[in-house]
Amino acid sequence: MASQRERAMKPTDLRGILRYVPMFRDHIFVIAVDGSIVSHENFNNIVTDIAVLKSLSIKVILVHGIGHQLVTLAGEHNMTISDIQGEGITDAPTMSLAREASALVSQTVLEHLSQAGLRCAITNAVRATNVGVIKGKNHLFTGKVEKVDVAILKTMLSQDILPLVTPIVCDREGQSLRVNSDHLAMELAAAMGASKLIYLTPFPGLQIDGQVKINLPEDELKKILNDKKIKLDPRIRSKAVQAAKALDEDVPRAHILDGRVFGGLLTEIFDKVGLGTMVHANDYDQIRQAKKKDAQALYNLAKHGAKTDALVGRTRLQIEQTIQEFFVYEIDDSIIGCAALRAYPGGKSMEVCAVYVQPFYHGRGVGKKLVEYAKLKAKSLGAKKLIALTTQTQGFFQSACNFVAGSQNDLPAARRKELKLSGRNSQVLQFNLKKLNNSVR
Ligand SMILES: CC(C)(COP(=O)(O)OP(=O)(O)OC[C@H]1O[C@@H](n2cnc3c(N)ncnc32)[C@H](O)[C@@H]1OP(=O)(O)O)[C@@H](O)C(=O)NCCC(=O)NCCS
Repeated sequence: MASQRERAMKPTDLRGILRYVPMFRDHIFVIAVDGSIVSHENFNNIVTDIAVLKSLSIKVILVHGIGHQLVTLAGEHNMTISDIQGEGITDAPTMSLAREASALVSQTVLEHLSQAGLRCAITNAVRATNVGVIKGKNHLFTGKVEKVDVAILKTMLSQDILPLVTPIVCDREGQSLRVNSDHLAMELAAAMGASKLIYLTPFPGLQIDGQVKINLPEDELKKILNDKKIKLDPRIRSKAVQAAKALDEDVPRAHILDGRVFGGLLTEIFDKVGLGTMVHANDYDQIRQAKKKDAQALYNLAKHGAKTDALVGRTRLQIEQTIQEFFVYEIDDSIIGCAALRAYPGGKSMEVCAVYVQPFYHGRGVGKKLVEYAKLKAKSLGAKKLIALTTQTQGFFQSACNFVAGSQNDLPAARRKELKLSGRNSQVLQFNLKKLNNSVR
């Protein structure tokens, strides 16, 4: 498990950052910055954070928005604009103002990047096409991404040039169209095979009932987006919709975070806990079979569990010898929880044991997912009953994981004897696997 020191690690801790260097070397991150964040005093720090990422051989593509500047310019010109975010109808006067806003924002970004000594180029590597008529309404100058010139972007990145992509994008005929920057960034991340799509926004993340969703599986995000009772600010909804699309396009992670927070970008990437919302692939993608190299991490987890007598103490050797029974829950290559599945003679019953979640991650559904996974796995291996022996977590197994009270008779004789000898006086709980429909491979 993470030591106290690891958990207290700050993005400024060089050793902390260096741990991740091999993990992200030569990976592409697409970072989309809202227009309001470019105008924010923290933007300078964001650019410094980007310089740190680049120094770690992470390849960054930057996209900027213009909504904030468009509204400001419209106020100065006493004009009414047809759409702010580039998703609705863009009429000719709004398009003209959007070009002005984009030039202003791009120049500001260039100034900051230059101050940080970063080589950068504004590029026409994206081609757009008209959105056209939707529900009878001609969207005029609103565009969507038609094609990404991956080769030119890769050439720029290989030359250590940071591509800056603006939301005013030319179509095949060279006509400028206004493209929503959230959509633009998603398309870039998908086409470039980016490891991360990061939205820097004036919001703390995706909040539900005032709480930022820190780790959000793709499926849960989709449920939120489809739930008509959940009201989201349209700007956050737009990012959340694009984040879900990015995951569908195999971008492993999409982040929505507060661009106004000092060091926020590095904290989100290099701190285990993160700052904003990280959307990741579905629930069980984070659970995998343990490997031999995980033995030390598992030993550390078991040791902490044994301290409070919640788990049976296990030596490293014991773990190594039974490694095939363990599965682990991982976040960004860090093991934050584990469980093991032990077959009883005959294979009709299995026992889920060594369920442990690092304290920081308690209450976020990790323990329940590990047990649900164990149920699916046990069923796929032909077991009819899953047993849990617990000293302190009867409530967890019964209320959260639907186990019911069992008895010593549910255990094979050898296990009964082992339990007696241990003196742990554990309670026997059981779950009928016939109730489950799914199974995992
Ligand atoms: C027990 C343990 C695995 C739970 O992990 P977790 O990730 O915090 O659990 P979850 O977030 O999935 O909790 C799911 C639900 O169980 C509830 N829960 C968690 N621990 C509980 C407990 N000890 N008693 C009763 N309910 C509990 C949670 O409140 C949550 O309820 P909700 O769905 O209504 O919100 C974790 O607390 C742990 O590692 N404990 C130490 C080791 C241990 O005791 N292991 C069991 C030995 S077999």
